[in-house]
Amino acid sequence: MSALSTLPCPPDSECTTLPDGTEVVMRPLERHDDGPLRAVFAGMGARSRELRFMTPKTRLTEADVRQLTAVDHHDHEAVVAYADGLPVGIARLVRTPDEPATADVAVAVVDAWQSRGVGTALAVSLAARARELGIGRFSVLMAHDNEGAVRLMHRVLGDVEQATVDRETAEFVVSLEPSRRGGRRLLKGV
Ligand SMILES: CC(C)(COP(=O)(O)OP(=O)(O)OC[C@H]1O[C@@H](n2cnc3c(N)ncnc32)[C@H](O)[C@@H]1OP(=O)(O)O)[C@@H](O)C(=O)NCCC(=O)NCCS
Repeated sequence: MSALSTLPCPPDSECTTLPDGTEVVMRPLERHDDGPLRAVFAGMGARSRELRFMTPKTRLTEADVRQLTAVDHHDHEAVVAYADGLPVGIARLVRTPDEPATADVAVAVVDAWQSRGVGTALAVSLAARARELGIGRFSVLMAHDNEGAVRLMHRVLGDVEQATVDRETAEFVVSLEPSRRGGRRLLKGV
């Protein structure tokens, strides 16, 4: 399993402290850097995997690994988060081919570290990187009842520009600019 020293903040990395005081180190995933990818997948239970991949998934195929590590730091960027020296989450964006200012986004955090702020740290870091790449909005596809993903989206991103919700999925196009109108909330109670 990949490990990374957390003190001091390594070069080309970003360090942040979670609300519980844990230090998180984030760095770009590199091409063919499959260790963190496999470790994060292994740390996710069946439900988390299904929420991430929108289908039940028991293993990563080699084709999945190739696709998920095919980062080029321009149209496909991914950030991996380490806590206690181990990979605990990955956030990625893939630029939409015919809409270069938009990117599809996915975030995954291992079960043991969910609800501790890792997803927020990753999403903030990915949004900053997106702005550097000229990306102004994220497109997020999720299960319609993925409360964690909706909360994360509201916490980090700006106004929802489009929402397409059906019985199983919800797709949101969300501005990366800070909300001027307080944002548009999408799920009752969330
Ligand atoms: C969605 C996910 C990425 C959030 O990451 P995280 O590290 O748990 O998020 P954070 O701790 O930063 O919390 C962000 C918000 O989500 C909420 N949240 C996190 N997990 C939750 C859960 N299982 N149920 C309800 N809310 C949840 C937190 O309470 C917080 O809400 P708040 O802003 O109202 O306080 C993570 O739960 C995950 O990997 N889930 C499985 C894969 C997935 O659903 N990916 C998103 C679709 S691509």
